[in-house]
Amino acid sequence: MNASSAMNNEPLIRIEAVERTFGGARRFLAPPSPLIHAVNGVTLTLRRGDALGVVGESGCGKSTLARMIMGIIPPTAGTIRYRDTDISSLRGADRRRLYRNIQFVFQDPQSSLNPRKTVREILEAPMKKLLNLDAAARERKARELMDRVNLRAEFLDRHPHEFSGGQAQRIGIARALAVDPDVLILDEPVSALDVSIQAQILSLLKELKSDLDLTYLFISHDLAVVDYLCEQVAVMYLGQVVEQGSVGEIFESPRHPYTHVLLRSVPEPGSHRPTRMELSGELPNPAALPAGCNFAPRCYRATARCRGEEPDLRGYGDGGHRAACHFADDPVPPPEDAITERNA
Ligand SMILES: Nc1ncnc2c1ncn2[C@@H]1O[C@H](COP(=O)(O)OP(=O)(O)O)[C@@H](O)[C@H]1O
Ligand SMILES: [Mg+2]
Repeated sequence: MNASSAMNNEPLIRIEAVERTFGGARRFLAPPSPLIHAVNGVTLTLRRGDALGVVGESGCGKSTLARMIMGIIPPTAGTIRYRDTDISSLRGADRRRLYRNIQFVFQDPQSSLNPRKTVREILEAPMKKLLNLDAAARERKARELMDRVNLRAEFLDRHPHEFSGGQAQRIGIARALAVDPDVLILDEPVSALDVSIQAQILSLLKELKSDLDLTYLFISHDLAVVDYLCEQVAVMYLGQVVEQGSVGEIFESPRHPYTHVLLRSVPEPGSHRPTRMELSGELPNPAALPAGCNFAPRCYRATARCRGEEPDLRGYGDGGHRAACHFADDPVPPPEDAITERNA
């Protein structure tokens, strides 16, 4: 057994009771802007070697969580730690050093790459800032990175607009790998790409994870993608984790009604035109959260208790399966009329 596998299970990122609100400020002579609970009490641990998928529909707080890990915005409550360091307490050089370990891949590959730089400059910038490599070593590493992501070394002299979406995302991945991080936070890295290209990028990510011993926090609104790449999954709804566990448990024995509904929208294997399903009812306004369980207004099982009492995230079995539903002991799949086909 080598050193890295002996260290498996070591927590790398610990997100504890994290909240993030937006707005709510009082302005002179104006009504206060609405207070939005974008992330509302999330606790998650990312251990070395994990591939943790975070899923949920648009607006549930996934990117806000990613931006807090990136240190772009601080949590309004709770802590995010890398090993033993509180991310939001870091400044200057300490902060820069932290992001040698944690890197990011974004949804829109084109707009996340500087259009005025060549690929060489894009890849070498983080090496210069964080690795102290001389010019020859940077050039060598840039070529290695291109090879890693299956792009030709000649592309180093080109600019981002000369690439297709899939190629641009390969460059985004190469840039993230340029400083040899432990952890990649991937925020919907394939959502903007065609389905056939998605598969290539996902397979590249899978290969890189095992070759480079990486740890992934993989954000997606698509459970099928998470199923392919991840071993663990956390399902988010309105800023909260409503269910989490191994991908096997979540897919085979979901306990939360929202997870049941999400699973209904996963296309059958081999189907090229997935049927888009959506929940009946509106996604509640995160500025006016319902009393009790957040999901109750759209839930096929909701009772008076659900509308009055917020369920805790409770554990089931010893495999880390947790669900926040008063009826999680007795899960029931949704009736047909709980979801409708969307005319996409
Ligand atoms: N800077 C911001 N100011 C105000 N509201 C925001 C801001 N960023 C995100 N939100 C709101 O927070 C909620 C969660 O957004 P986001 O984290 O982007 O969700 P997701 O990535 O899951 O689609 C949404 O209601 C969104 O409108
Ligand atoms: Mg997002």
